Amino acid sequence: MQNREKFSSRLGFLLISAGCAIGLGNVYRFPIWCGAYGGGIFLVFYLAFLLLLGIPVMTAELAVGRASGRSIATSFDVLQKKGQKWHWMKYLGVAANYMLMMFYTSITGWFFIYFFKFLNGSISAQGAEVGIEVFVNMITNPTLNIMMTILVILLGFGVCAMGLQKGVERITKVMMLLLFLLVMGLAIYALILPGAGKGLAFYFIPNPANAAEYGLGTVISGAMSQAFFTLSLGIGSIAIFGSYIDRDRSLLGESLTIVGMDTFVALMSGLIIFPAFFTFNPEATAIGADQAGAVFLFTTLSSIFNNMAAGRFIGAVFFLFMVFAAMSTVIAVFENIMSFWLEWTKLSRLKIAVLNAVAFALLTLPFIYSNIGGFFSQKIFLGRNFGDFEDFLVSNLALPIGSLVYVLFCTWRFGWGWDKYILEVNAGEGAKVPAWMRPYMTYVLPLIIIVVLFIQLF
Ligand code: ALA
Repeated sequence: MQNREKFSSRLGFLLISAGCAIGLGNVYRFPIWCGAYGGGIFLVFYLAFLLLLGIPVMTAELAVGRASGRSIATSFDVLQKKGQKWHWMKYLGVAANYMLMMFYTSITGWFFIYFFKFLNGSISAQGAEVGIEVFVNMITNPTLNIMMTILVILLGFGVCAMGLQKGVERITKVMMLLLFLLVMGLAIYALILPGAGKGLAFYFIPNPANAAEYGLGTVISGAMSQAFFTLSLGIGSIAIFGSYIDRDRSLLGESLTIVGMDTFVALMSGLIIFPAFFTFNPEATAIGADQAGAVFLFTTLSSIFNNMAAGRFIGAVFFLFMVFAAMSTVIAVFENIMSFWLEWTKLSRLKIAVLNAVAFALLTLPFIYSNIGGFFSQKIFLGRNFGDFEDFLVSNLALPIGSLVYVLFCTWRFGWGWDKYILEVNAGEGAKVPAWMRPYMTYVLPLIIIVVLFIQLF
């Protein structure tokens, strides 16, 4: 293994970990799901799962990363006792990181496209009602999708090739600070729209009737899967950043800060989107299933922007915000992927970046074609097209199963064990994991994950 760089500052660590967490999950999935699954009622479960599952699992990941000084590709090999098989977890972790980026990079490309469309005014030329055809034309255009996906891949690996401090840390820090500014500016703007009151009521007042369309079980399992997705938990994409820090801060404290930033951006995205929606749909009482999904952001919201004064500018700023959020995750997960190869081989960062960029140019094709036609668009993958199947494998299986493994590894005696975990997690200044968390993390937390995993599957 080659010499490892570390972050140059605590701020770098916090912003990059938050950048890994903050992404499509916050700005795209969260408002879409929150809207479709009844607003406030979904929000309550989502926040509960962040507290009950998200924070403890994040401490486990960061502890394994920091104690081993490695990525998921070799961390379990370092920490497990002789003859144990915990290191098999690397196959799930490595595969899930690749699979996540096999669709994530292309969706990031869509945000770039809409950003450019607002910037050059071509979307405003579509008129006030931005039809579904604009969106469908975009996702079914192979050349455009392939080119934009390659652009995202090149930008992401380009930053990683520059090194941890000079590339990933320097660029993500700037991007995240800009993202916070943009999201706050947009939220203030949305709050003075006439539909703000109605939007906020839908968003913050839990009303079980709003969840009736899908049923409470679906809402609950959706909230859990969203909690895992938004924090990128269970596949080592957070653990890697634990491996780049020293022991001067406790990991519970750091996890609270990271989850806090992630939740702030998700909540702010809702604060932007729901007031805007109800301003331009004053008759609506909820967001119907037909308005949910990608259509919601790309069609409904784009129409809303086109109806606004200075809408072209607001639309461009909004999609730039989306681009920053998505790119911060792409860079973070690519950095994790880089670290696998730095640990496995003696190749330079540049070579690893080039080889992976070529690999991803091919690996992203199934997702792109799942929206266009042919084999990958057939609903033969557990009743889904291949793109949705990739999302299902990552979000519904890899993230919860991986989280379960991290928690069991940190709490069970025939894993790394509670004593070693607690020494690592509590080392340094800041909030400490209290004693009552031991029975909770050993028995209750795994049970919750298993139950909801089953609900999701069956
Ligand atoms: N945590 C990442 C996101 O929210 C995967 O987009």
